[in-house]
Amino acid sequence: MERLALRGGPPVRQRSWPAWPEVGMSDRQLVLEALDSGVWGLGGTMIPRFEEVFARYQHTAYAVAAANGTVTLEMALRAVGVGPGSEVIIPAYTFIATASVVFQVGAVPVIVDIEPDTCTIDPAAVEAAITPRTRAIIAVHVGGGPADMDRLMAIARKYHLPLIEDAAQAHGAEWRGRRLGSWGICGSFSFQSSKNLTCGEGGAIVTNDEALADYCRAYRNVGRWVGRTPPRPLVGADYRLTELQAALLLAQMERLDVQTERRNANAAYLSALLDDLNRSTGEPVALPPRRDERVTRHAYHLYLIRLRQDVWRVPLPRIVQALQAEGIPARTGYPALYHDPLWAVATGSDSGRSLAAEASRQPAVNRGQPSPVEAGQEPHWRVEGGRAPQAERAAAEVIWLPQRLLLAEQSDMHDVAEAIAKVWRHRLNVGCSSE
Ligand SMILES: Cc1ncc(COP(=O)(O)O)c(C=O)c1O
Repeated sequence: MERLALRGGPPVRQRSWPAWPEVGMSDRQLVLEALDSGVWGLGGTMIPRFEEVFARYQHTAYAVAAANGTVTLEMALRAVGVGPGSEVIIPAYTFIATASVVFQVGAVPVIVDIEPDTCTIDPAAVEAAITPRTRAIIAVHVGGGPADMDRLMAIARKYHLPLIEDAAQAHGAEWRGRRLGSWGICGSFSFQSSKNLTCGEGGAIVTNDEALADYCRAYRNVGRWVGRTPPRPLVGADYRLTELQAALLLAQMERLDVQTERRNANAAYLSALLDDLNRSTGEPVALPPRRDERVTRHAYHLYLIRLRQDVWRVPLPRIVQALQAEGIPARTGYPALYHDPLWAVATGSDSGRSLAAEASRQPAVNRGQPSPVEAGQEPHWRVEGGRAPQAERAAAEVIWLPQRLLLAEQSDMHDVAEAIAKVWRHRLNVGCSSE
């Protein structure tokens, strides 16, 4: 009789999935070239070469490479004039960095809900959250799938607000034929090790705004101006990338399009398999990501599947555990931002108080910056409407498959669908200690 791998049965998937990152001849050659050049930091040729190639790739005039995709977001906020007293509208379903940078510049994060189909920021919620203190909107292209750029751009124009695209996961993705990051005032990318384009750690701002590019270039270089904008005093930081990282990125760029096409083809195939599963069971067992026809290219950094709680009635972490045992590297996704423990520390919400108290018991040398709680301040943040129900629902229902899985053969997608079908058949036993 068929047994769950969780209960000692044979896993559906016995072989490994493609490894990430990929390393080819050109990675080795270009890194060696950078090594031998004798210039490993700013002042070499790799960084400007990469910036030119990446700006063009993302359909923008400028790119500024930096240390990671967190500091690029911070620079973007500073570049558009966000500071103490400002409010920045952000989605409730995102990586914590989208929020932490708002605290970093002394501004107030205003969290709004997401659209259920794409898990990206809900434009109607954005508009409802605008106040006279709003200074910027950050849209996150979750998993490499675009937020609704038509509606968001219309709101940004109507209220004269800069729209910053957090495109950390969206290299090469397009909305109506135009690459993400080129729609708003600027786009922020990450090259951290899991990303579709990586050099271990790294990031970039892309923009068509020359002054913004010059500001970021100066900011990442400890406030020293090297662009066309006339110099003015600027307190910056060292957010520079190295030549070796830029060399790696140049090499990885050569493969990005082929990989993106493969991810898109496999995602389409997997979606069809999940549709078949839903049809054959007569239940909405596993809902594939909905594809808006305006999404002319998805990055599929993540493939999001919704496992409805009212259909499964099994806690998501248990389903994920069962899938992992079957050899599928699935993960649960983000909690609603205001449920993230880090968020609680930063804002001084109830659960944050115990964490902050915990921190205060540690030796001073380990404590880092005081949270607002420790500093005796009121928390400065707001959740529009008090809660973000769709983000909470996504946290409870949406699982992620990593991009590297979509680099496998088309036939390998059957293992994913079969593992979900198997765990579904045994769902009553997934939560129990024995079958
Ligand atoms: C949506 C989002 N924003 C920002 C970041 C931060 O990028 P980095 O890890 O390069 O600092 C990430 C990285 O995971 C991300 O996924």
